Amino acid sequence: MTRTILVTGGAGYIGSHTVRAMRAEGRPVVVLDTLELGNADAVIDAPLVVGDIADEALVTSVCREHDVDTIVHFAAYKNVGESMQQPSKYFHNNIDGTVHLLDAAVAAGVQHVVFSSSCSVYGTPERIPVDEDQTIQPESVYADTKAIVERILGWYDQVHGLRSVSLRYFNAAGASFDSRIGEDWDYALNLIPVAIRALLRGDQRLKVFGDDYPTPDGTCVRDYIHVDDLAGAHLAAVDLLRNGGATTAVNVGTGIGSSVKQVLDGIERVAGKPVPHDIVDRRAGDPVSTFAEPTRAREVLGWQARYGLDEILDSAYRWHLSQHVGRPAAG
Ligand code: WQD
Repeated sequence: MTRTILVTGGAGYIGSHTVRAMRAEGRPVVVLDTLELGNADAVIDAPLVVGDIADEALVTSVCREHDVDTIVHFAAYKNVGESMQQPSKYFHNNIDGTVHLLDAAVAAGVQHVVFSSSCSVYGTPERIPVDEDQTIQPESVYADTKAIVERILGWYDQVHGLRSVSLRYFNAAGASFDSRIGEDWDYALNLIPVAIRALLRGDQRLKVFGDDYPTPDGTCVRDYIHVDDLAGAHLAAVDLLRNGGATTAVNVGTGIGSSVKQVLDGIERVAGKPVPHDIVDRRAGDPVSTFAEPTRAREVLGWQARYGLDEILDSAYRWHLSQHVGRPAAG
């Protein structure tokens, strides 16, 4: 019988899309989420346990009760700026919490972990596209929590035989194509939700952080990856581990860079009106340009992105519109 996947943070943005993709394939899933930032509705009909990853007794009993062999671990704080003001909050939750989760996993006989890592572990990349062999040099507390957990996972494999895949996401964006789930803009600080909020709500103009960078149009370049593509990478990672794959870290991006201006032009195409914005000073710590070398994901996971910037912007816009006017958009 197929064993169960425990998804921590499954009520969050990327977690809920992944849970939905797993359910669509009929895979047994159980979600663990504190609901501090997650949304119970986003879990849809998957079983939800409300609780903390640091609660070893709870995690062990959930794993035993549901016959869990694999944990897909999303639960973490993710605000880079906040991590530089309250580092201990990030060390406690993202690192210490994960160590408790892993100890509970080992105690319950769990064999595999898929970990939500980040392209931010590379800091400012030495060369682009960014491949997995580049130096790990995090430039924020948040990014370092991801790099440290990757290393901890290496030791748990060596010591306990717990195999893992760390997925280093580039810029997650977009929403489900039926507008059922998406990224709540109340907490989001990322370009796409903030730009769409400026357009739909009109109470705050978007600040574009610099247009004098050495890029074709002067604005920073990023690799935006659709959240359903990200979800697919998790399913592929679970399969790799279940088929005996070794512990590894893999970039999850499209391999294509888009500038801030290209994103704004794309939103204007989708919405039929421009995003109200002002050009302001550069934001400290922003790398000029970063995008993934996606070859390892193709070779190791058999995964590659299916969607591009247009699908990301179209799905994100329709999701925010449905939230804004309080009714679902056409699917
Ligand atoms: C994108 C671009 C900004 C907001 C973040 C995390 C990183 C990783 C990916 C996961 C940049 C510009 C943004 C705004 C703007 N996450 N921008 N005005 O910083 O590339 O990466 O997500 O682990 O760790 O830091 O994403 O969406 O903030 O910025 O001009 O109001 O949009 O300068 O060029 P970022 P972002």
